[in-house]
Amino acid sequence: METQSHQTAAGAAPVFAERSGGDLDFSAPVAEDGPSVHALIAACPPLDQNSVYANLLQCTHFAATCVAVKREGRLVGWVSGYIPPQEPDVLFVWQVAVAAEGRGLGLAKRMIRAILDRDVAAGVRRIKTTITPDNDASWGLFRSLASGLEAPISDAPWFCKGVHFPAGHETEHLVEIGPFAARRAR
Ligand SMILES: CC(C)(COP(=O)(O)OP(=O)(O)OC[C@H]1O[C@@H](n2cnc3c(N)ncnc32)[C@H](O)[C@@H]1OP(=O)(O)O)[C@@H](O)C(=O)NCCC(=O)NCCS
Repeated sequence: METQSHQTAAGAAPVFAERSGGDLDFSAPVAEDGPSVHALIAACPPLDQNSVYANLLQCTHFAATCVAVKREGRLVGWVSGYIPPQEPDVLFVWQVAVAAEGRGLGLAKRMIRAILDRDVAAGVRRIKTTITPDNDASWGLFRSLASGLEAPISDAPWFCKGVHFPAGHETEHLVEIGPFAARRAR
């Protein structure tokens, strides 16, 4: 996968373009992607809906650690993530969404690997995310990712039903993958 990084016209934030070959276009999002991200998340239960405003912040302030995948201009895949200020060696994966027709083809895994391949992730040695116990697809994705990175995976309850979530939301387990090799060795 070819990866390029360059500055925006304003010179403020890095922008990345990753061409996957074929008809899929991997890139860092821009503000104009916000509404499409919102619509894709809405079509991907059990993901929580955030406000369009939150999606716009992901597409701008956090663009360097998010990826949007388009096919013929239509958003078919999305990963939001960030590097927590207190943990510069961690990529926290917030949400992963693949349009129903694109599932089972390895797209989710490729999107996360695309972020890890960027310069911004050069210091990343661990991935963290949260998963509810019943989300088989998400467990499958992160276990497969850990296996590909040849890294251990562990989890423990973090945001708990009835304690942190008022009602109707399952406990989110904090999942950690790593440590894994530096980017050049992966
Ligand atoms: C979870 C999701 C992003 C996976 O996308 P995907 O592109 O189909 O995933 P991939 O093809 O990259 O699969 C990666 C691994 O997960 C496994 N997997 C995918 N879907 C699975 C399922 N429903 N049950 C069990 N394992 C599953 C695959 O077998 C694969 O493992 P392998 O590499 O060992 O074969 C997609 O199903 C989705 O958008 N679901 C709704 C939203 C959601 O739950 N997001 C995750 C929470 S952040």
